[in-house]
Amino acid sequence: GASSESGWLGTPIDELNRMPQCAPPFPHLRALPNHTVTVRTDLLREGEFPVSYPSKFKDAWDDMSVKMPCSDKNLFPMETEVGGRVQSRWDLICNALRRGFKSSLDIREAILTYNIAHTKKWDFTALNLLCTECLEDCEKQHLFEVVLPAMVDLALSAPSLCTMPIPLLKTRMNHSLTLSQEQIACLLANAFFCTFPRRNSRKSEYGNYPEINFYRLFEGSSMRKIEKLKTLLCYFRRVTQNRPKGLVTFTRQTLNNPPNWESSQKQLTRLHISCRGTIEDDGYGMLQVDFANRFVGGGVTGHGLVQEEIRFVINAELIVSRLFTEALEHDECLIITGTEQYSKYSGYAESYKWVQHDEDKTPSDEWQRRCTEIVAIDALKFRHYLEQFLPEKILRELNKAYCGFFRNNYKSKHLSAVATGNWGCGAFGGDTRLKALIQLMAAAEAGRDVAYFTFGDAQLMRDVHTIHSFLTDKRVTVGMLFTLLNQYSSLVCMNRHTARREESLYRFIQERVSSRTPANDEEPSGDSA
Ligand code: AR6
Repeated sequence: GASSESGWLGTPIDELNRMPQCAPPFPHLRALPNHTVTVRTDLLREGEFPVSYPSKFKDAWDDMSVKMPCSDKNLFPMETEVGGRVQSRWDLICNALRRGFKSSLDIREAILTYNIAHTKKWDFTALNLLCTECLEDCEKQHLFEVVLPAMVDLALSAPSLCTMPIPLLKTRMNHSLTLSQEQIACLLANAFFCTFPRRNSRKSEYGNYPEINFYRLFEGSSMRKIEKLKTLLCYFRRVTQNRPKGLVTFTRQTLNNPPNWESSQKQLTRLHISCRGTIEDDGYGMLQVDFANRFVGGGVTGHGLVQEEIRFVINAELIVSRLFTEALEHDECLIITGTEQYSKYSGYAESYKWVQHDEDKTPSDEWQRRCTEIVAIDALKFRHYLEQFLPEKILRELNKAYCGFFRNNYKSKHLSAVATGNWGCGAFGGDTRLKALIQLMAAAEAGRDVAYFTFGDAQLMRDVHTIHSFLTDKRVTVGMLFTLLNQYSSLVCMNRHTARREESLYRFIQERVSSRTPANDEEPSGDSA
């Protein structure tokens, strides 16, 4: 049962909703004006490969779509005796990659053939180290003889696999995109070989998009890069050996009507809180929070290796969202349904290690997607501790979390619980107690229960459980809590009342609520602050 000793408190986790059990009846998958589907929906069958749609490559070299490496418009300037001329960059890519690789130097040479401008800048130390010092002879042989050639085939199959233009999910677009896992593998193989045009400089037309080409993964000599490469090569090994047959949906969701927090009459929903376990392992079937960067995936192709980046390398299909997802605005999120976990890992950040491949047993839904729903919500990064208590910052975080949690036209009984934890409280420097409360309020407003993983912090588990029980007992509404947060804000920000930070927010709330007299019980606070 629940106790500090057993590592969890509140509602037993098995009482919370998970997919697929809680799912409402599914409509048939079909393309809609706000949903692009790149496979034949009429031919979708469990256990069979999805069929790309349309049957022939359709190019769209415009500002609404991903510019594909295999486009005829992807040209490369050539110097000849008779002057400047252009050549098909895709031909160059095909020729360079088809020459085959005997060592990591050959991979470097191939990639630089069609990325000449970066010859001096791109560094392949990590890739070299991996190949020369970190792999057993047989692993190395398998990599060069089997995996890399298959990755080349996969990358070069783009014109026959990824036939439909991929729409960019731009700022304020409410749009879904469903791709097959096979198409995603093809796109990621292209990212590995750095073939996506116009994506190698922040100053380009894709400046407001995350990086997609993998060149930064190959650079430097930190163990982080080596372990990330091992994790990604595990993904490529798996998808080239045994191509996955499912689909993945990416939905950009904008919050059109933010709740009126002050007048909300909602009460907190149920909470399971645990200091053991992780979002991905223990929150299966729930809505799993990605502690995101506004550029989704954050530093996954670079140096980063905390919660978001780890999730993106173990569920590698998440990475493809970087190809088409413009930076998230304050009231936006990205929901990704159907990715598979390919690797097991240990450690975190500096101590992260790829352990071995993972066989994901998650069941699939009627659209052939794994029942794994992940939502990327980016918290604010705070440099000064007190900043986060400003009313406008609290409001921003409430709306961001709510945008991630709410689903239009869903009854509560059909919504899975939110699996979350210290969102915004690591790299982004937020206060765990404030953020826990904000997430509880957003989940309550969205009609979902919460499974919260404190990542080893037993004191936090007890504190959040205590305030949650207290607020539930006293029937404190989300609206009252919102008002209390604003009162605390003026106190702490205006009066620089910073003593005993750790407990003070929760103690303030408890004192204010307890001092309510029965006569003004409906008011958040009897006295004027
Ligand atoms: N399950 C539950 N809790 C976790 C897990 C997990 N698997 N992993 C970490 N935590 P952080 P942020 C806890 O720093 O502050 C990335 O670069 C652990 O207590 O990843 O929102 C993004 O791209 C950890 O300290 O999230 C952004 O740029 C805490 O969650 C930036 O970091 C916060 O994890 C976001 O930083």
